[in-house]
Amino acid sequence: MSQRSKKLHFNVFVSGTGHHAGSKKHPLADPSKSLDILHYANQAQIAERGLLDSLFIADNYSGTGRRLEPFTMFAAIAALTKHIGFIATASTTYNDPFHLARKFASLDHISGGRAAWNIVTGHSQADADNFGKLGHPEHAERYAIGDEFVEVTKQLWDSWEEDALINDINQDTRIDDSKLHEIHFKGNYFNVKGPLNIPRPPQGYPVLVQAGSSESGKELAAKTGEVIFTAQQTLEAGQQFYTDVKSRLAKYGRTPDQLIIMPGLGPIVADTEAEARDLEEELNSYLNTEHALKRLSRYFTVDLTEYPLDGLVPIDKSKPFGSITNGITSRHEAVVDAARRENFTIRQFLARSAGGHGHLTFTGSVLQVADYIEKWFREGGADGFNLLPPIVPSGLTAFVDKVIPELQNRGLFRTEYEGTSLRENLGLARPANNYRHIWANRNIAASNETRVESNVPQ
Ligand SMILES: Cc1cc2nc3c(=O)[nH]c(=O)nc-3n(C[C@H](O)[C@H](O)[C@H](O)COP(=O)(O)O)c2cc1C
Repeated sequence: MSQRSKKLHFNVFVSGTGHHAGSKKHPLADPSKSLDILHYANQAQIAERGLLDSLFIADNYSGTGRRLEPFTMFAAIAALTKHIGFIATASTTYNDPFHLARKFASLDHISGGRAAWNIVTGHSQADADNFGKLGHPEHAERYAIGDEFVEVTKQLWDSWEEDALINDINQDTRIDDSKLHEIHFKGNYFNVKGPLNIPRPPQGYPVLVQAGSSESGKELAAKTGEVIFTAQQTLEAGQQFYTDVKSRLAKYGRTPDQLIIMPGLGPIVADTEAEARDLEEELNSYLNTEHALKRLSRYFTVDLTEYPLDGLVPIDKSKPFGSITNGITSRHEAVVDAARRENFTIRQFLARSAGGHGHLTFTGSVLQVADYIEKWFREGGADGFNLLPPIVPSGLTAFVDKVIPELQNRGLFRTEYEGTSLRENLGLARPANNYRHIWANRNIAASNETRVESNVPQ
């Protein structure tokens, strides 16, 4: 696809009050709605009005975050929307492939082909503690598990041929057992017989999303990812990441357009630049300095509360890049780079980082935000953006009602959904059923395939 005809893609990173750390206290936000499904359905409907591609919800298995569980939340919203895709986060370290393959297949059926999986490996010992595990596996092992996990899951989705389910009331069986296949997966971490107990997802596989930026993260994305979320702070860093990740695809027999790169962007937008700056200042005035400092300290790898707020950021105290193997590699590099570039005081650093917890933020008029997005897109920094509205729903509404029409006028964004599935809207091919390959790889002649008896009630 040429750059000219290629269109931007947008995902919305959903949140209870917004991604700006001051949003919780802003009069336009309402923290009491953090567990209200209609609050999230409203965000979905606004995003759908703007023809955006998808919603994404982050997740982990510890802490006190006030958020809903991704599968139940998206299943409910699916019933209230028609086009928007749903990117549910699920960790490969604290799940089981059979369970996840089944849940994603189910969400894809419920939504009519709008499900996607944000494949994460998790990053905290606290998660391990909640699963009776001795320790959170170290980085390389987490990715080795993740790699195998994704392989098993794909095989489970492929364990049903497309036409295994017979919707014919005149036949006495509704499942053709000869089209269900045991996978007999035996790996280093998983041992799964199969088949799955639900038909292949409408999209073949849900869209596979990846969000790690370490070497292993980028390899996993190049091998299996179809969308990658990342946190890049400058166009130059974004371009480097973009070129780096896209250049890894060829060795897996893939082409660059099979992976959509979406850096995070927190846009603070209003009709004029002055109004947008006022909103940013107002949001900053609601910051809880202590909380915001703690969060930033985690990414920065230094306890910033021990330093004076009006002193310079202690850059030299931050750990070397690449050494945060059990942390969040890309966010660490992004915040340290920003501090180094701008020579911030801690107070300024805090104000700048508050808008997107380590993601890129931009404050400006509608035209300035559109220009900014266009520049990243045209100059090879992004295929689209993972939007982090500073405050919801008003920040999302402003983007949808003001920035989207401007991007449409420039021919950079769709004026109607291209298809009915998330894959179609993202321009991603539906994966062929690979079950024959699975068997070939195991050196089992197709003619000797075990035919399985379905134990699903007919
Ligand atoms: C936009 C974005 C969203 C993420 N969401 C989650 C999440 O919900 N849960 C999680 O455990 N990790 C999440 N991560 C972290 C990554 O998936 C990854 O586990 C982390 O970056 C560590 O991997 P890395 O060392 O390869 O970067 C997210 C990262 C990004 C950029």
